[in-house]
Amino acid sequence: MHIAVVTLFPTMIEAVTGHGIVTRAVNNGLLRVEGVNPRDFTRDVHKTVDDRPFGGGPGMVMKIEPLRDATIAAREAVEKVTGKRPRVLYMSPQGPVLTQQRAQELAMEEGLVLIAGRYEGIDERFIEAYVDEELSIGDYVLSGGELAAMVVIDAVTRLLPGALGDADSAKQDSFSGEFEGLLDCPHYTRPENFEGRGVPPVLMSGNHAAIRRWRLMQALGRTWQRRPDLFAQRSAKGLAKNEQQLLDEYIGGLDAKRSEP
Ligand code: ADE
Repeated sequence: MHIAVVTLFPTMIEAVTGHGIVTRAVNNGLLRVEGVNPRDFTRDVHKTVDDRPFGGGPGMVMKIEPLRDATIAAREAVEKVTGKRPRVLYMSPQGPVLTQQRAQELAMEEGLVLIAGRYEGIDERFIEAYVDEELSIGDYVLSGGELAAMVVIDAVTRLLPGALGDADSAKQDSFSGEFEGLLDCPHYTRPENFEGRGVPPVLMSGNHAAIRRWRLMQALGRTWQRRPDLFAQRSAKGLAKNEQQLLDEYIGGLDAKRSEP
């Protein structure tokens, strides 16, 4: 996958490609990320990348021509590698919020252009003419789209086939595979006794079927408890009979705990 990020701060993007799974994906040739800086497409001596908003008011808007030319260059750089025009995504709180499902869809693209805005925003006509979709990473306002683009790069990279060391670990964790639409189960490692706290005995049993069952129960229970919105989505498709049993068992456990002396 080839991702070009249009940004005034390309070194920020290097931070996501310089560590862990993303670095390995780059080194293994699964991923290429490059920054394209609108400042390199300015034509005045001051290399101006912002301009005053029509209608007045505080703050500046990104200057439209350098932004357009950087976006075209980014699109061409990706197309040269993939042979296909990439989707152009503008990172913005006005877009739909990124979900694991959207990350999975984006991971199937061969190339992407991510636009990271700065200042008060970008010209609406640029969005109309050059952006395929807007994408938010949550209902809060960042001072620029770079962190959002980095989130997209990270979430998408770990879904690329071969990107994870242990092929199963992405499938098992929150939101995907058997645990689709559910939060993750709790995890434990040594020591067996940490400051007086033990480990759920089933995890020490060596009974893999029982461990799987317990993990699914925890995932269902925690989603039900902590994220009723996600749970409603998941159960709208219908809970399997064993899943309903596991949830009942989890809730039963909570009730038992509550009535302990
Ligand atoms: N730019 C500023 N805030 C953002 C957000 N929440 N998501 C995506 N891009 C943004």
